[in-house]
Amino acid sequence: MTIFVTCNLSARTVFLFNIITVLVLVTYLVDLEKKIANAKDSSEHDSSLLNNQVNGALLSNSFSSQNLTVFYNRVPKTGSTSFVGLAYDLCSKNKFKVLHVNVSKNAHTMSLPDQLRFARNLSQWDLKQPSFYHGHVAYLDFSKFGSSSPLFINIIRQPLDRMVSYYYFLRYGDDFRPHLIRKKQGNKTSFDDCVKEGQAECDPNNLWLQVPFFCGHHADCWIPGSSWAFEQAKNNLVKNYLLVGVTEKMEEFVAVLEATIPNLFKGALKLYRKGSKSHLRKTNMKIPPKAETIARFRNSTVWQLENEFYEFALRQFEYVKSRTLKPDLSDKGQQFFYEKIRPK
Ligand SMILES: *[C@@H]1O[C@H](CO)[C@@H](O)[C@H](O)[C@H]1NC(C)=O
Ligand SMILES: *[C@@H]1O[C@H](CO)[C@@H](O)[C@H](O)[C@H]1NC(C)=O
Ligand SMILES: *[C@@H]1O[C@H](CO)[C@@H](O)[C@H](O)[C@H]1NC(C)=O
Ligand SMILES: *[C@@H]1O[C@H](CO)[C@@H](O)[C@H](O)[C@H]1NC(C)=O
Ligand SMILES: *[C@@H]1O[C@H](CO)[C@@H](O)[C@H](O)[C@H]1NC(C)=O
Repeated sequence: MTIFVTCNLSARTVFLFNIITVLVLVTYLVDLEKKIANAKDSSEHDSSLLNNQVNGALLSNSFSSQNLTVFYNRVPKTGSTSFVGLAYDLCSKNKFKVLHVNVSKNAHTMSLPDQLRFARNLSQWDLKQPSFYHGHVAYLDFSKFGSSSPLFINIIRQPLDRMVSYYYFLRYGDDFRPHLIRKKQGNKTSFDDCVKEGQAECDPNNLWLQVPFFCGHHADCWIPGSSWAFEQAKNNLVKNYLLVGVTEKMEEFVAVLEATIPNLFKGALKLYRKGSKSHLRKTNMKIPPKAETIARFRNSTVWQLENEFYEFALRQFEYVKSRTLKPDLSDKGQQFFYEKIRPK
């Protein structure tokens, strides 16, 4: 009896062992194939990058590819209009196309067929020039649709500042289109009173915008205070965004971008400095919130996560900036080179 059980067991064990061996082998093969594909990709990539190389010295970052596509999926009320203005001012001179993606009814996510259409169109549309897309749409994972991803960039802002600014913008407009009648024109309620009265417009849940924008097109991204969405947003920021700046450091953002993608942004910093007044969009009136209003927000999970996300983005941006720019915001230039190249 005992032997039988043992024997039976060992037969099972052998069977299981076989299955595991097969699984391990298959995983290994799939992995190997991926590695080969990656190596192929990067070698193709390298050869196009190395075209302008002189004796293994300076590499050009004027990417020769006409398929260079940048997508700025802008968060509303973060100073994005100022920045997009720069792209429109530079596009003729630097020879690239600017396209606005108008997502109807200010929905920040697209239907599934639209996601597919957009991903396919953006990655296959050969405009013969580099292109810069911008639009108020949440992060989209292009690989999900079998399409190659554009270079994502974005700008975020201190969450409460963004909300307060938007609140007064709806009431008083801004200097960009001063004569446009805004949705809440004539409403004199201050943000503090709105919060004190617990009005829906000033609910901390409305802060939930930058995290879901970076999180993307998933249901849970849009649940205020979701810690899953928060993690997803941070992951996307580091893995899938070329650069994320903050409204409070717009000039530095422009400088890093110019250093990184000069074929689109050559001259951007100079232009930004020269015309920073005309590029900056200011809300006509804004009363800073009282301490008790701020305390109330700080108490909410939504504020805490949004704020932590902002701080995370800011640290990352500062880090990138310090590696890229000199104190006067000029480009440090290439800081690596090849040597000991064999055989000669
Ligand atoms: C987007 O399109 C709608 C409908 O054509 C239009 O009313 C709206 O002004 C457009 N949005 C922008 C920002 O141009
Ligand atoms: C650009 O994309 C098109 C369509 O995907 C492709 O046919 C073309 O070879 C690409 N050009 C470069 C320079 O990569
Ligand atoms: C992308 O969409 C534009 C505008 O609808 C169209 O003109 C273009 O042919 C499309 N490109 C591709 C590759 O589908
Ligand atoms: C003004 O805005 C506040 C905050 O949303 C709202 O509670 C109030 O009803 C509005 N007042 C008028 C007259 O619409
Ligand atoms: C913060 O939350 C705690 C616990 O929910 C509550 O006792 C406190 O009054 C809140 N503070 C503010 C400023 O809302």
